Amino acid sequence: MTALFWKLVVTALCFLEVPGVSAVPGLRNKYGVWLSMAQPYVYELGQRCGADTGCLVSLYKEEGIGEDPLGEYQLEREHYNTSSGTTLILSARTYDNGIQIFKHEFPDGLKGTSTGNKDLVSACYPRLLLPSNSDAPNLRYITPGGNMAGWVLYSQGSMATDLDWFRDGEDGGLVVLFQAEEETVSSVVVSALTQPMATNVWLDRDQRTLDWGVQGQAQDIPAGFEYEVIAYPGDQGITKNIIAWGEALQYYHATVKMYDSSADFLTYYTDNGAYHYYNPLPYMNYYDTLISVYNYSVDNNIPFSRLQLDSWWYYKGVGNGVKNWTEMPEVFPDGIVKLHEITGLPIIAHNRYFSSNTDYAQQNGGQYPFTVDEATGMSLPLDKNFWDDLLDQAVTWGLATYEQDWLDRQYMHTSALHTNLTLGATWLDNMGKAAEERSLNIQYCMSFPRHLLHSATLPAVTQIRVSGDYFYYPDQWRIGVSSLLAHALGLRPFKDVFWSSRENVNNIYSDCEYVLPDEEHPGKFIYQYGGRVNITASGKPCVPWRNFGWDDLYYTSDLCENLCKNPQNIRDGAFCYTKASFDIPEEEWEWEYCNVPRCNYDCYVFNGSLYVGDQNVTQSGQACVDWAGDHGIHGAVCRNPDNEVAPWCYVTDDHSRTDYCNNKCPEPVELNSHLQSAVSTLSGGPVGVGDETHNLNVELIMKSCNAEGRLLHPTKPLTVVDGYFFSSDYREVWTGYSIIGEYIFGIIFLAEVDKTLQMTPSQLNLENAFTTNTFLFSNYPEDLTYSQNVSPGQTIDLLACGGSLNFCLLYTSPALQTDLGELFILGE
Ligand SMILES: *[C@@H]1O[C@H](CO)[C@@H](O)[C@H](O)[C@H]1NC(C)=O
Ligand SMILES: *[C@@H]1O[C@H](CO)[C@@H](O)[C@H](O)[C@H]1NC(C)=O
Ligand SMILES: *[C@@H]1O[C@H](CO)[C@@H](O)[C@H](O)[C@H]1NC(C)=O
Ligand SMILES: *[C@@H]1O[C@H](CO)[C@@H](O)[C@H](O)[C@H]1NC(C)=O
Ligand SMILES: *[C@@H]1O[C@H](CO)[C@@H](O)[C@H](O)[C@H]1NC(C)=O
Ligand SMILES: *[C@@H]1O[C@H](CO)[C@@H](O)[C@H](O)[C@H]1NC(C)=O
Ligand SMILES: *[C@@H]1O[C@H](CO)[C@@H](O)[C@H](O)[C@H]1NC(C)=O
Repeated sequence: MTALFWKLVVTALCFLEVPGVSAVPGLRNKYGVWLSMAQPYVYELGQRCGADTGCLVSLYKEEGIGEDPLGEYQLEREHYNTSSGTTLILSARTYDNGIQIFKHEFPDGLKGTSTGNKDLVSACYPRLLLPSNSDAPNLRYITPGGNMAGWVLYSQGSMATDLDWFRDGEDGGLVVLFQAEEETVSSVVVSALTQPMATNVWLDRDQRTLDWGVQGQAQDIPAGFEYEVIAYPGDQGITKNIIAWGEALQYYHATVKMYDSSADFLTYYTDNGAYHYYNPLPYMNYYDTLISVYNYSVDNNIPFSRLQLDSWWYYKGVGNGVKNWTEMPEVFPDGIVKLHEITGLPIIAHNRYFSSNTDYAQQNGGQYPFTVDEATGMSLPLDKNFWDDLLDQAVTWGLATYEQDWLDRQYMHTSALHTNLTLGATWLDNMGKAAEERSLNIQYCMSFPRHLLHSATLPAVTQIRVSGDYFYYPDQWRIGVSSLLAHALGLRPFKDVFWSSRENVNNIYSDCEYVLPDEEHPGKFIYQYGGRVNITASGKPCVPWRNFGWDDLYYTSDLCENLCKNPQNIRDGAFCYTKASFDIPEEEWEWEYCNVPRCNYDCYVFNGSLYVGDQNVTQSGQACVDWAGDHGIHGAVCRNPDNEVAPWCYVTDDHSRTDYCNNKCPEPVELNSHLQSAVSTLSGGPVGVGDETHNLNVELIMKSCNAEGRLLHPTKPLTVVDGYFFSSDYREVWTGYSIIGEYIFGIIFLAEVDKTLQMTPSQLNLENAFTTNTFLFSNYPEDLTYSQNVSPGQTIDLLACGGSLNFCLLYTSPALQTDLGELFILGE
């Protein structure tokens, strides 16, 4: 961004003088400077060099004014000399409305900048000095973290007492600080404005500074490299400020998102959590399975408009990465193209990280330059023409939306993405531009905050997953904050697939523990549990993993809530802690195994063809008799040697009669598909249904779309209100609205809200929906009768809507002035 009216003014301009603050401005709010600045530093030739230690020397300062897409600004710019004699330029632009942009330029580059730690910062500016706890006891933070746009490790809390959960480094990148002062809430959103893939934020807990800068393992900073950090202050409330920040990013980058029809029409999904994830119908390939779904949907008037194909269709290589992104003939004998032609449905196709033995890499005899990491089994394409060719090919079989999944792992395990500062942006830009040129949309999945931020520059990236996988994360419907971030950046939030029915029997999500031989350690086993048991064998409640930081420590093990797990196979079975926290020394923590059934030993999964347990009683209570060598089996046990639908055994000595056994492992059920449907539809993003065909709940599905499959989205999706950041009483209170003509119809969603709350329209972010007399009424549950006439300025009494997974929907309707008096239109 070049300043339009750049002038170098040698004489000092009139700046708001704030005592005790260095020449470089600190973080501002409407009262002046809020956080002061600490001295910047860089790592050069392996040494940390700071302006405070005299090794980074200020050469001269300039001041000036200018203008860019965010408005007119005042500028302070300081030139520094490093220990090797190269120049750094640090500048701060301050806009009338208080926005600040900090820019770090490296005209000559810098050598040897790695700190050796991917979470640190190797060239730091700005560096914000946090106030002491006694000076700012009410200062609070919001830090998205980890994948799914920062949902998985999302954290908020007090800067005085909750710093253990502050998310920074590789998996952080966005910080909101706020405090209530003089009856208003001052907040500031700080993030990379440019180069989010190459930069980090690091909270230096000892120095109490918040350091922004080049990511910690950058080996060298190339000549001409620069990055910018934006601090967006506001006193209109936190949620409004986040939206204003996001709009500023979009405006600054002049990004106009492509139209995304796959976020506007009903989709059938086959990803993790869906019935057909790695699970076609018995005796059928995926082609026939999906054709049967399609046939059923046509016969029952379910207007699926898109089909999503998850990772089960292409070839995997080393490390389970992509060997080549082509359909396996056993899955689609006539190609995806046949499916596309017969159904006419555009395809949303999943892709993951590339394997180190991917056929595309020149290293493996392929055509394209890749960077290959043998140690992690991953590789990354370097050139845009790879994406051009890949997507050209995919367009021929009906691709409409390219779903890039595993963004976090690709980033974490590709060493060049940490050492080469321009590679991250180049990779995503190549993918994004190739998609844009072909009018394809992109869905980001498992994105870190840095990917989310980078998407602000890419018109093709239009949708983003905003919570963990369905079933593995029972709480994954809680998307009020991540949807807010997505919405702020012009992205459609995706809640992930859901079941429209309570049950889908014979699904692959059995609640049991897999015991698999450990190939690297012969004689040992790997114990894998992904179920929902949350108490130990002796009945003690499990402590949530995040209470002692294991959700972050074992990031790739998906340690959600307080469910029993065995992260990285450190023990011989699923376990959890019964006593552990940041405040208790680790030696004093206590853990116990959980009593979870072992798949195919204690109970059978699927059709039980792998069942080897001791069950000897059938479904009707008859005793099994000895197989006596039949099918090579001995003993009186249930088995499925012949591809039956379940294990069975002989129940008469002469083997004349058989019976099935029903010791199936417990399978999860969907406890409230209405909640799933409401959250998905009102998220404003894609809606993906994933039941087994005959379990598709037509009535519920049709609540989310019209007969053509067009989703009934609100204009502004449901997102949290400010109360969420202050008190758990407001979880989950989400609001949104629809604009029809000149009228605004509000939507208030209340889930698991145990107390009645009194809130003003502005606390609900719905002040525009209550400018006239307004009728507030309940839409869901259907038997709920609640209504209130609200006059302008009035406080609203919300009803309690408590209980696990319980929710209510309230709608508002403004008075229309007619000859007959005020008229209210009720309806969806
Ligand atoms: C910059 O630093 C180098 C190395 O310390 C020194 O030799 C050089 O004179 C400095 N340049 C300026 C303009 O101060
Ligand atoms: C039974 O399960 C096995 C292994 O998962 C599978 O190969 C087979 O096709 C299944 N049979 C049926 C009838 O589903
Ligand atoms: C789907 O419907 C078509 C047309 O009615 C029929 O020919 C085909 O056999 C059906 N396929 C499946 C798998 O149900
Ligand atoms: C993809 O990989 C499979 C397995 O190695 C191989 O058989 C197939 O030929 C490859 N397809 C293409 C298009 O490279
Ligand atoms: C870093 O990546 C860029 C692509 O963004 C590439 O052009 C450059 O050669 C790489 N630099 C090094 C040192 O590998
Ligand atoms: C375990 O999960 C169930 C179902 O979600 C919940 O009702 C119960 O309170 C949980 N127990 C503990 C100890 O967390
Ligand atoms: C079934 O198994 C139980 C427990 O292992 C055992 O006590 C019982 O004798 C067995 N019954 C038959 C009929 O084999």
